[in-house]
Amino acid sequence: MATGKTFYLETFGCQMNAHDSEKVIGTLEHEGYERVDSEEEAGLILYNTCSIRDKAEQKVFNRLNDYKKLHKAGKRFAVLGCVAQQEGEKIFDRAPYVSLVSGSASYRKLPEMLDRLEAGETRITGLDDRQTDEAFETEFTSRQNPYRGYITIIEGCDKFCAYCVVPYTRGRERSRTSASVLAEAQRIVDQGYTEIQLLGQNVNSYRDPDEKLSFADLLAAVGQVPGIRRVRFTTSHPRDFTRDIVEVLDAVPTLCDHVHLPVQSGSSRILKAMAREYTRDWYLERIAWIKAARRPISLSTDIIVGFPGETAEDFIQTMDLLAEVEYDCVFGFKYSGRPNTPALTMIDSIPETEKASRLQVLLDRQREIQRVNYANHLGQTLEVMVEGPNPARGQVTGRSTQNKPVNFTSAQPIAPAPGSYAQVLITATHPNSLVGEAV
Ligand code: 5AD
Ligand code: SF4
Repeated sequence: MATGKTFYLETFGCQMNAHDSEKVIGTLEHEGYERVDSEEEAGLILYNTCSIRDKAEQKVFNRLNDYKKLHKAGKRFAVLGCVAQQEGEKIFDRAPYVSLVSGSASYRKLPEMLDRLEAGETRITGLDDRQTDEAFETEFTSRQNPYRGYITIIEGCDKFCAYCVVPYTRGRERSRTSASVLAEAQRIVDQGYTEIQLLGQNVNSYRDPDEKLSFADLLAAVGQVPGIRRVRFTTSHPRDFTRDIVEVLDAVPTLCDHVHLPVQSGSSRILKAMAREYTRDWYLERIAWIKAARRPISLSTDIIVGFPGETAEDFIQTMDLLAEVEYDCVFGFKYSGRPNTPALTMIDSIPETEKASRLQVLLDRQREIQRVNYANHLGQTLEVMVEGPNPARGQVTGRSTQNKPVNFTSAQPIAPAPGSYAQVLITATHPNSLVGEAV
């Protein structure tokens, strides 16, 4: 049983959120807190939340309910992240046992908020939202992922897509200096990482405050840090995706053969209603650049079905786009109305059952596309970065440069460590993964 100041942290949501938690953990540890493995052992329970879709948010409130019982044991609670920012002080009314509510744009004030918490204050808030122009710069990052080092290059979002809650929960865009990003890349390499993932809600709108490097330049510079073997980046926005990114992918071997380029819909009419600021043709032009690269760059995307006003014809255009691009991975979602967003004022015209059936049609078709794409790897030898054991099958699991999951067996008695690399001969393929043996 741990003594003194202890905390337990639970995270929901995207990679940005997972990485925010790494920074929050680092900050807490620097403030003298010790991390414990269960709520029962912890004096302070923190909960980093997501509100991107209604399901994610519902989970949060269900979980908050569980805290009621723990409160009786004298524990304190903090709600962080997107639901915290979105609901603000309303969380105190709904869950009076919560003492601290803070959105990600206020994390730089965490040490001060923790002092107030320790002094016995309740109803402490950090809800700066769009006022702030400061990024959460901290060297106290406690990296939890054993094989991938995350680096935030830009926080917040200024795009205001009609359906999206992020501009309201994560505040306005603020980029870190390229010098600070490169220094962090070096620190990560010094800690033994060889894979870096650059993060931002829209990495393509990165603007170096020192005006030294564009996003493409920064990508190249990170890829050239000695010791780096793989660099990924997410998420791209088609409106801001520039051709020089593809040139850099071609020129710098450490950059991975993968671009995640969310399209959301294949219909220009719906894209306009979504305020995405591009058309189907604009999107397909960027796809053509990527496909023309000298390297085989894998493509993935996000799609929303059932946006207000989406007709059967609009949906067919999305299906056609799927067939044309032949993605290696698609994240499909049913539209759900989010607080504060412009789409909430539109009539959510598509019945839930119709949304569900469109999503099913889309995912079924995509599965067949992937079955063919993945089968093309049969007989190839791929470099795989090991993520860990896959005990279910007595295999090791990892990813190819194209971000495809590879499950493989290895003749060595000891499984290779997370973050190490293996050459794997692909002996079988599925629509979502590859199977092979280390050679
Ligand atoms: N409803 C459904 N899906 C959404 N996404 C974002 N907001 C919504 C919403 N209100 C999806 C988008 C985005 C991904 C992270 O989540 O496809 O790219
Ligand atoms: Fe969820 Fe979006 Fe917030 Fe990430 S940025 S935690 S996906 S609401």
